[in-house]
Amino acid sequence: MHFAACKRTAFANTPSMETLPKIHDKQPVAVELPAGDHWWCACGLSGHQPNCDGSHKGTGFGPKKFTLPEAKKVWLCNCKQTKNPPFCDGSHKAL
Ligand code: FES
Repeated sequence: MHFAACKRTAFANTPSMETLPKIHDKQPVAVELPAGDHWWCACGLSGHQPNCDGSHKGTGFGPKKFTLPEAKKVWLCNCKQTKNPPFCDGSHKAL
């Protein structure tokens, strides 16, 4: 088998920059978060949305770290299309 064909076969089921980010939901999620550092899933593959669980490994994506100076309710993007990550900016309305 030609190398290119082998490569296509080997990575056929691996998410890539072309297929990501994956839309987790077409609406944001409201969460009450404590003060401190948080890591929002940017690829959409995490099983612990909206938080990163490491599922992005090998995809070229990485989580978006954000810091809250105090405990706060925030609306986090679940569609992964926001222009202001990790926060919802209404981009989901165009999906
Ligand atoms: S849920 Fe992604 S922009 Fe609103």
